[in-house]
Amino acid sequence: ETGLFTFDPGFTSTASCESQITYIDGGEGTLLYRGYPIDQLAESSNFMEVCYLLLHGELPKADEFENFDWTIRRHSMLHDQFDQFFRGFRRDAHPMAIMVGTVGALSAFYHDSTDINDPEARTIASHRMIAKMPTIAARAYKYSIGQPFISPRNDMDYAGNFLRQCFAVPAEDYKGSDVLAKAMDKIFILHADHEQNASTSTVRLAGSSGANPFACIASGIASLWGPAHGGANEAALNMLNQIGSVDKIPEYVKRAKDKDDPFRLMGFGHRVYKNYDPRAKVMRDTCHQVLDELGVRNDPTLQVAMELERIALEDEYFVEKKLYPNIDFYSGITLKAMGFPTEMFTVLFALARTVGWIAQWTEMVEDPSQKIGRPRQLFTGATPRDYVDFSKR
Ligand code: SDX
Repeated sequence: ETGLFTFDPGFTSTASCESQITYIDGGEGTLLYRGYPIDQLAESSNFMEVCYLLLHGELPKADEFENFDWTIRRHSMLHDQFDQFFRGFRRDAHPMAIMVGTVGALSAFYHDSTDINDPEARTIASHRMIAKMPTIAARAYKYSIGQPFISPRNDMDYAGNFLRQCFAVPAEDYKGSDVLAKAMDKIFILHADHEQNASTSTVRLAGSSGANPFACIASGIASLWGPAHGGANEAALNMLNQIGSVDKIPEYVKRAKDKDDPFRLMGFGHRVYKNYDPRAKVMRDTCHQVLDELGVRNDPTLQVAMELERIALEDEYFVEKKLYPNIDFYSGITLKAMGFPTEMFTVLFALARTVGWIAQWTEMVEDPSQKIGRPRQLFTGATPRDYVDFSKR
């Protein structure tokens, strides 16, 4: 007797946990982190404050913020030997492959913070991951273009420091842009958490066995990589480039609606949102700000994106199925304009989502009702039969 269970492929109607972190109303198109609307946080807060909020449940007071911010800055360096990991990869390796490998390897360097039953060790592991992720991500990029690594600077804020590590070169003074650093920070806020999406559920499932936190986050990165999830930002920009010009849009919209054609509009549709993704709205505004700052408002990809959005939102198929642009639709154009190659887009998503994964992992570890994740199955294979000797097959 194994009891009854429900069959729910893709978990479309199964709540896997109780959570107090992020709330989504998919019908209304609302997203709250710990009760605060995403548009207010993107407008008025900053990523470090949002990290604190997600981890602790409340906005920090001034001294709490200062302490947290300083702690993250102080943990941003990597162990000197860690750099050798990058050198083991081919130069043309996808940076997400490098992220999966190197973040998992953090567990070998910081074994002292892997005792999941010790709250202090958990906190240190959290700080280490949030702080080191930009350093690792920037190194993955620098390695791919053959440039020397740039060390983090403790006197710079999170987003500005990350941009510097990506785009500074030792031979020149680095002149960052406040507008771009602010946009980067906003992009991090928008991606920070999104309740029980595929990668977060992966982190929770991996962690439910008591596994080491660095390895759990590496499993989240692996899940995020897929084009149906975080990889959609890369796929969306590739799609916009493939469409190429406004006059080709109807042809691609027709293909997206064709059941026999695997083509789908990347950056469109969402499991939970049956309305405009509230993050996509902020992302679209940020995209315009970045393109204005860089003086490339007439970017042809943006023209295709805006026209595609307009046509799809008027099309009966998309209206009926409630398919709207999601966060990945405008993020690619923005990141490309900022100078990132497409392969880095999902890396930036992973960097920002790390805090969400950690907050969710911590909530799970601290939940007394937590059990090891163990889905059941509907077995549809062979009925019992006797082994047949090799000579008789
Ligand atoms: C993220 O879950 C999260 O919270 C994820 C995320 C996060 O912050 O963690 O928000 C990040 O992953 C955003 C989503 C990025 N993915 C894409 O943009 C890829 C394109 N979108 C789709 O593949 C799809 O919409 C999903 C994967 C996002 C959602 O898949 P579902 O919920 O399983 O829905 P579905 O694929 O079953 O689609 C329902 C119907 C289908 O038609 P029918 O079989 O009912 O006739 O809508 C159609 C689909 O064919 N459809 C699309 C479409 N997306 C869905 N048709 C054309 N183009 C599309 N993009």
